[in-house]
Amino acid sequence: MQIFRDIAGLKTFLNTWRKEGKSIGFVPTMGALHNGHLSLIEASKSKCDLTVCSIFINPTQFNDSKDFEKYPRTVDNDLILLQKYNCDVVFCPTDDIMYPEKTQLQIHFGYLEHIMEGKHRPGHFSGVGLIVAKLFHVVQPDLAFFGQKDLQQFMILDRLTKDLLFDIELVCCPIIREEDGLAMSSRNQRLSKIERLEAVALFQALQLAKEHLLNGKNITETKKIIYNFFEEKKSIHLEYFEIVDRNSLQSIEESIQKNQQLALCIAAYIGEIRLIDNIIINY
Ligand code: PAF
Repeated sequence: MQIFRDIAGLKTFLNTWRKEGKSIGFVPTMGALHNGHLSLIEASKSKCDLTVCSIFINPTQFNDSKDFEKYPRTVDNDLILLQKYNCDVVFCPTDDIMYPEKTQLQIHFGYLEHIMEGKHRPGHFSGVGLIVAKLFHVVQPDLAFFGQKDLQQFMILDRLTKDLLFDIELVCCPIIREEDGLAMSSRNQRLSKIERLEAVALFQALQLAKEHLLNGKNITETKKIIYNFFEEKKSIHLEYFEIVDRNSLQSIEESIQKNQQLALCIAAYIGEIRLIDNIIINY
């Protein structure tokens, strides 16, 4: 496994492969790798000749400086895992390399930045767009792999790729869950034992909502059931629960169309830790 910390070295290495006609798959991460990330590495390896993973905790996408400081940093362990999964190349730049000067650039995504994650984390998607655009310029992959857990991020990056004419195919990979259903996330590492047990409530709520919707409850009734479900869980603060169209992420307030694909999206605080999850259902 080749590890690069500078852009020039990485570019030279990748150019040699590109000249030989090899396809490049890219998995951008912020480290603290878990099986969700490793499933992206596997997906890339199954579709591309060469897999590049980046590890960079991007400061511009954290709207809360405490969250940035406390974000798990486990690079040594990440490198061991990547080696074990036969990742070919790892790019671990420093802040100075990715942001040599204080950036002024803001990226706006219209409607998508004002709902759910965008509404509750102002500036977050601008930071995500900025770093992913930089990484795409450096790596110039053929395919890039992201997890469905960050469904709204995937839609944002799809917009970015199309609007900036990146010739890159984005692949949205399924959520990987723990045995009890909790979606894998780097933030899970920060949960205490009790919080970890409580955190399964997000997945339980999504399943409950799915059951009620498919049994004919309308949107308002379903949302009420979910808000009541969390009323009883004093240690969890529900930030939002939304039922949106899977393709546009537009909120569905009234009637659901037959055969419409819905995304049920949730964000909640377990103590200080903010977790998100979603499921997609065919109505
Ligand atoms: O999903 C993440 O881990 C990050 O938002 C990403 C895409 C690596 C950008 O920093």
